[in-house]
Amino acid sequence: MGKLRLGVLASGRGSNLQAIMDAAAAGRLEAEVAVVVSDKKEALALERARSRGIPAVHIDPGSFASKEDYEAAVVETLNKHGVELVCLAGYMRLVGKTMLRAFPNRIMNIHPALLPAFPGLNAQKQAVEYGVRYSGCTVHFVDEGVDTGPIILQAVVPVLPDDTPETLAARILEQEHRIYPEAIALFAAGRLEIRGRKVYIKDA
Ligand code: GRF
Repeated sequence: MGKLRLGVLASGRGSNLQAIMDAAAAGRLEAEVAVVVSDKKEALALERARSRGIPAVHIDPGSFASKEDYEAAVVETLNKHGVELVCLAGYMRLVGKTMLRAFPNRIMNIHPALLPAFPGLNAQKQAVEYGVRYSGCTVHFVDEGVDTGPIILQAVVPVLPDDTPETLAARILEQEHRIYPEAIALFAAGRLEIRGRKVYIKDA
């Protein structure tokens, strides 16, 4: 059987994409990044992909009449590259019905908080301002809500008294780079089973 083909969607820096590509290159992940798609032309993520010789495609949402049309173009690109699992990595858009229907239970996301706490934007700032003692990150399947889908893996980090959103984000990011490839590896190994809103890890 060939390696699981990943399509990564990113809007910016692409450090999670990098962690996924590195894990795949090191053989820690039975998967390969088949294509990277970005809604932002200048996304560093596109550069990171190109420097690995991975197809990197900018699709401009502004050049489509509707969200459906934009997503149909994204789906077409993913299909053209034989993508089996879609990984959102700093993709700053809400996934709509067109993509969800094209990849049912086959879209993952990483969020920099312990969901269901602090969904949405600026999760690290939300955590610092709320005064929680611990935060972390969550890899989950994507559904129609904002950061609401079934949870695959989480990692916890302490929140220190003098943390700023930036220092906390850096501590969380280290864990993101660890658990995202791990979650993808579980999927690649066929070990994730979704029942209702829970994800069971087989042979854990
Ligand atoms: C990460 O913090 C991720 O959890 C969030 O967006 C950020 C993306 O960072 N969804 P990068 O582009 O992977 O470096």
